[in-house]
Amino acid sequence: MRLLASTQAHANQANTEQRARTTVTDTGMIRVGVLFSETGITSAIESSQLNGTLFAIQEINDAGGIGGRELVPIRYDPASDPSRYRTCAERLILTDDVQVIFGCYMSSARKAVLPLVERWNRLLFYATLYEGFEYSENVIYTGAAPNQNSVQLADFMTSRFGARVYMVGSNYIYPYESNRIMSDLVSQYRGGVKVGERYVRLDAAEDDFTEIVADIRKIRPDFVFSTVVGNSTQHFYRAYARAGLDPASIPIASLTTSEVEVAQMGTDIAEGHYTAAPYFRSIDSPANQTCLERFTEKFGYGTTPNASWEAAYFQVHLFARAMRVAGSADTETLMPELLGSEFDAPQGCVTIDRSTHHTHLNPRIGRVNREGQFDIVWEAAASVRPDPYLVTHTLGDWVVR
Ligand code: ACM
Repeated sequence: MRLLASTQAHANQANTEQRARTTVTDTGMIRVGVLFSETGITSAIESSQLNGTLFAIQEINDAGGIGGRELVPIRYDPASDPSRYRTCAERLILTDDVQVIFGCYMSSARKAVLPLVERWNRLLFYATLYEGFEYSENVIYTGAAPNQNSVQLADFMTSRFGARVYMVGSNYIYPYESNRIMSDLVSQYRGGVKVGERYVRLDAAEDDFTEIVADIRKIRPDFVFSTVVGNSTQHFYRAYARAGLDPASIPIASLTTSEVEVAQMGTDIAEGHYTAAPYFRSIDSPANQTCLERFTEKFGYGTTPNASWEAAYFQVHLFARAMRVAGSADTETLMPELLGSEFDAPQGCVTIDRSTHHTHLNPRIGRVNREGQFDIVWEAAASVRPDPYLVTHTLGDWVVR
């Protein structure tokens, strides 16, 4: 965001004063903002991100904190409402004096917080897959960009099922943009066609999908691309099953239907549908299994690990490592240490990209099995560099197993 010179000077001065006053408190603790919804339409998935964040903070503190200083989460519940994200972020910055905020799920929430972190030169760590086409000096993006999930999903679904796709989404920016990208991918690379595109309100109930699933039954696409988010996801998949639509013949493919939404809808409804993500709970690696054991020990069984949980977890460790070296959470001091930094995450090695502020991730495609977990049916041979503006997005150069 550009500010007029005088406003910028005022902001800089206020910034300097605030930094001198705070961030590291009198007792040597380091306050960090944590902004995930515990109520509202995306509360289930965001609660998992909250617990991933608190889990990482606890691990860091148990290991002696950052240079002996404890991380203290200052946490608010923005109730899945973008205007509340704005208010809470403002409070975190201006009253609680945090330099760093971990938070946001919906792109509409990120877009509400973005001008504030830019205006006050703070840092937002965003742990959610999103539509791409964004860059900010004040954001680190640790969820998948479209070249790390949409491209692979388009390739996988069109090569196995066909390229006539019906799109169903929640009514906000991520679904519009994600559908535009999916539409381009299937048409440019497979000669495919969008045979339907429908949007429902964010708090859609099962009835809101009745007419849509009837239309899908009539049109019989090769697959459905769902960008429905949050608690409505279970209602869509349930309406789909009730209409007699079968994943064996017309599967639903998604980027937002994680283990959390699968648990909400139940395995009998979810089995056979597909999701693309860099992380699934089912990854059979020592790094993932030991992380899950440590998490379960500390946080019990209340949270279902998923890709947004994992990104929320590893981004706090990336922050802590950078701050250990930088000695400060000021954006200018911290950023050079963050860019290019790596972490051995549960999904495999992740690296923050210097030029885009996004993260090198490990794309995978999973199919829901009878236990409500994802069988990994495809994974990239190596981590994929983020390309949020889709400068290159060829299909077909991915390793399929
Ligand atoms: C999203 O809104 N980025 C899922």
